[in-house]
Amino acid sequence: MQVRVFKDAQAVAKAAAMIFAAQLAEKSDSVLGLATGSTPVETYRKMIELYNEGQMDFSKVKSYNLDEYVGLGPEHECSYRYFMQEQLFNHINIRPENTFVPSGVADNLDQVGLAYDEAVRAAGGVDLQLLGIGNNGHIGFNEPDDHFTSATHVVNLTESTIKANTRFFKSESEVPRQAISMGVGTIMSARKILLLALGEAKAQAVRDTVKGHITPRVPASVLQLHPNAIILLDEAAASKL
Ligand code: PGA
Repeated sequence: MQVRVFKDAQAVAKAAAMIFAAQLAEKSDSVLGLATGSTPVETYRKMIELYNEGQMDFSKVKSYNLDEYVGLGPEHECSYRYFMQEQLFNHINIRPENTFVPSGVADNLDQVGLAYDEAVRAAGGVDLQLLGIGNNGHIGFNEPDDHFTSATHVVNLTESTIKANTRFFKSESEVPRQAISMGVGTIMSARKILLLALGEAKAQAVRDTVKGHITPRVPASVLQLHPNAIILLDEAAASKL
């Protein structure tokens, strides 16, 4: 696991966007694993800038997002599909049919999970996976648990995640209690992983991830086993290392 510390969130975003640009320069038909939440917003903004400057071309890219809330369709402004359209897809030349976010509204979500993993495999696997990290150490919506779940699956969100995500909704009661998320196995199968963490609220989770035991109680700690995982931090997120 490679850890790099930057002065602030802007510097992290710039470095992350450059890693994506390098990935596309090397392999124009890359399969990208993408993430939502507040952490990647600035990285996506930098990627849009690079695209506008002619330094990134997404025309052959496929993208698979980590997760989606159960019960929120693509038109719901708190859904992760909506987020991706607003924050990235609408501003670059990725083909809409090449962007994938698991459905949180299908009848059989177990089937959605199986089909999602199969689609990732059929696309050749993820070349570069972007991750944020929860205050509780989650990646995607893989919450602290007594075991790791490998495949894309339905998860019950913890109270801490529901509270942390209330800021995106009108009230806590509106936050969905479940999500569908890539599993830890799906995430770990990516050839390269880029985890970003910003701010002091993430400092303990970052410490547990980098310096702690590998345990499903801190899902991100599994990244210690990945041969090509890079963690980009601002100084606040790195303050407990
Ligand atoms: P955040 O969420 O980027 O909004 O802090 C990250 C996460 O929960 O994975």
